[in-house]
This record gives sequence, C-alpha cells and structure tokens, in this order.
Amino acid sequence: MPNGELIFDPNYWKRRLREANERHQAIFKCPKDQWEAIENKHREILKRHIMPHDSILDAGCAWGRLLTLLPKEWVGDYLGVDLSPDFIELARKEHPAHIFEIGDLRYLSSGVLVKKVYDWAVLISIRPMIKRHQGEEVWQEIEDRLPTVADKILLLEYDVSDEGYVILSEGL
Ligand SMILES: C[S@@+](CC[C@H](N)C(=O)[O-])C[C@H]1O[C@@H](n2cnc3c(N)ncnc32)[C@H](O)[C@@H]1O
Repeated sequence: MPNGELIFDPNYWKRRLREANERHQAIFKCPKDQWEAIENKHREILKRHIMPHDSILDAGCAWGRLLTLLPKEWVGDYLGVDLSPDFIELARKEHPAHIFEIGDLRYLSSGVLVKKVYDWAVLISIRPMIKRHQGEEVWQEIEDRLPTVADKILLLEYDVSDEGYVILSEGL
C-alpha cells in the first residue's frame, strides 16, 4: 500500500475496488484459504462478544462486511460509517435494510452522524492502517472519542506483516 494521505482520499478506495478481482483483494492481497480462515476467526470472536440485538456502530464499515459475519437475526440497531462513497454505495445496495453513512471516524463524536450511544463500536482492520498512514496521533484522536459513541469497543485486526503475511489480533 502506498504511503501518504491516501486512506483519507476516497479515490484511493475507488481504484482499489476497481482493480479487485474479489472484494477482499480490494483491501489486501491474500490467498483465498487464508482469507476464509480470517473470516471464520472473525465470526468466532464476534459471536463471543456481541449478544443478539446489541446495537452496533460499524466504524470503517467498507461494504458492510461485518453484517455478513453475524447471523441475520443477531443484528440489532446498526449504523455503518465509512469515508469512501464507493464502499457506502455498495453497502447500501447489498444491505438495503441497514443504514450506512459517509463519514470520517475522526468526527464521529460531533453529534452529526452518530446520534446515540451504541452498545458496540466495532472496528475491523482500521487501527493499523490509520497508525501507519496517518500516525499515532490521528489514531489516538479517534480512540479517545470512541467511548462517547459506544459503551464497548471491539477492535479486530487483520493486517499485513513486514514479511507480507496476514496477521490477526483482537482487542477490547
Ligand atoms: C482495511 S478496510 C476495513 C474494512 C472493513 N472494516 C472490513 O471488515 O473489512 C479500512 C476501511 O476504513 C475506511 N477508512 C479509513 N480511514 C477512515 C476514516 N478516517 N474514517 C472512516 N473510514 C475510514 C476505508 O475507507 C476502508 O473501508
């Protein structure tokens, strides 16, 4: 992934989506079996923490991938927020029953986008990307504000190590 401010430029994701053969490759180039293992791990972790009908703020939702990881009947009040208009358009098409808004995580607590306190803010593969491209301070700014929009925060990471392997970690 190139350096710089690109993750804050919606055109970056537009290009990545266009180039992608499969959607997950819009994010990272990852062998299919490895990707499936990550998806299964994410399912397991989510079900361990999120209770049926908990409300969820999906921060950096992309195409609403989180909704595909939870049983349909499990999902309560849900809001997906992402910077990329292309991802939000896709998410709205794929999950018409749910609400998605274009927005920047740095301004989540402005009261404009998020108008209530959710049970959970779920951030999947956001922290490493923001730290790497925007620096620790930007991540810190987001992290400091998350408790104003959610009672509990679940961070699920998939990222590429220096050697090019996808690594997975979990934090609460
Ligand atoms: C690696 S993807 C993760 C997508 C999704 N959470 C998943 O489960 O695969 C990172 C996402 O974060 C979004 N993003 C990056 N910076 C953002 C910001 N400041 N505000 C909102 N979304 C952001 C990108 O547009 C992209 O969809």
